[in-house]
Amino acid sequence: MKNKFSIVIAGGGSTYTPEIILMLLDNLDRFPLRTIKLYDNDENRQNKLAKACEILIKEKDPSISFVATTNPQIAYTDVDFCLAHIRVGQLPMRELDEKIPLKYSVVGQETCGPGGIAYGMRSIAGVLENIDYMEKYSPNCWMLNYSNPAAIVAEATRRFRPHSRIINICDMPIGMENNMAKIAGLSSRKDMDVRYYGLNHFGWYTSIKDKSGYELLPKISEHVKQYGYVPSQYEYEHAKRDSWFETNLFTREIIKTDPTTIPSSYLKYYLFQDHVVNNSNIEYTRANEVMDTREKEVFSECKKIAEAGHSNGTTLKIGIHAEFIVDLAIALAYNTHERMLLIVENNGAIANLQDDAMVEIPCIVGKDGYEPLSIGNIPLFQKGLIEQQLAVEKLVVEAWAEHSYQKLWQALTLSKTVPSATIAKKILDDFIEVNKDYWPELR
Ligand code: NAD
Ligand code: LMR
Repeated sequence: MKNKFSIVIAGGGSTYTPEIILMLLDNLDRFPLRTIKLYDNDENRQNKLAKACEILIKEKDPSISFVATTNPQIAYTDVDFCLAHIRVGQLPMRELDEKIPLKYSVVGQETCGPGGIAYGMRSIAGVLENIDYMEKYSPNCWMLNYSNPAAIVAEATRRFRPHSRIINICDMPIGMENNMAKIAGLSSRKDMDVRYYGLNHFGWYTSIKDKSGYELLPKISEHVKQYGYVPSQYEYEHAKRDSWFETNLFTREIIKTDPTTIPSSYLKYYLFQDHVVNNSNIEYTRANEVMDTREKEVFSECKKIAEAGHSNGTTLKIGIHAEFIVDLAIALAYNTHERMLLIVENNGAIANLQDDAMVEIPCIVGKDGYEPLSIGNIPLFQKGLIEQQLAVEKLVVEAWAEHSYQKLWQALTLSKTVPSATIAKKILDDFIEVNKDYWPELR
């Protein structure tokens, strides 16, 4: 690989773009850059943060060239890595994904249940389109993709672009592992080696060892049973009780369903659907919270920087979301053989699960891509849950490809979050109405 890398961020107008750029700029010693490009299909939105990004880059290293564009050829020509985080339909469509199921007392969530299904039907074409641009203009480029819903997107890329240089990832385990490291008294999640298996937003840790090989799971499990992923008693007593606090805390209930593992906090949407619905507000969901907080804050900080011409005193900061992709790009660029959780084709890694499942498991990453670690057989409880959810995800991708109303209805009916085929049909018909500009026409 070259000495300095060229990067395009697809979904340049994302609220996560500035924190990714700050992370890249903080890592120039281990990951030197010559170009950073932003690419989005919404010029207005991308312009809300492009100028600020340009200033951040110039302040740190004026030799890095910066481009913000809506032209795919300019964006994808001469790039080594594409960091993709697009949201097809943007946050107003997320709001509908969350609110329509809630009308029927069904979980309304970005990636889990019906909301994730609707979002998946929008995301597939957008992600495939970006892969095609990448392959046309920079065939040796790697796409590190965390566009959601990652499980459905990963299945679509497996089906329709099986030979593409795309790696599907999620930052959710990083968040959980950061908390676990704090619980265990370690300074970084990188001081741990984990064993984990499942689908995206649907998995279990079976081992968490420190670098001397000492098993930390019992200690972490004792904490999770009392405080969930809230990392300390102090935070339990003092932290702001926002939606993430509640999600982290609720893991203390999920762990009771299998005390031998540590679960993903998102399993609450599948195992405690009634609790989730009873604690949701159809007038104000997570999409509203994101629009009122993260989106407003990021855009207004970027406006301040653009107007001042400098970033002194900015509140923009590096986020965990960004750390993972930089580590992954470095592993690919420099053959570090770092162990990372990726969403990859099973191919026997989970021995008693079908080969063509896209599973989230530890992999060793080097310059030719990733090598999955073997998991072995998984217990019946997890296997049953995974197979049901996997069938949902595969049906969504088939429904998208075949324009099939029947298969999408089956997918919704099969989702553990939906109580009956009747309710599934009502949700589907409402979704079709509002997704006309994004979904294929179903027959
Ligand atoms: P956002 O709405 O702020 O930004 C997404 C951007 O993508 C928008 O500017 C939009 O115009 C652009 N876009 C949409 N379709 C496009 C296309 N076809 N080509 C190029 N650009 C396109 O979204 P966000 O809240 O910042 O989230 C971005 C993505 O990252 C979402 O998919 C979100 O679900 C995902 N995400 C993933 C993780 C993870 O680790 N897997 C964590 C958080 C968010
Ligand atoms: C969440 O709900 O926090 C995640 O889906 C990421 C986001 O968009 O905020």
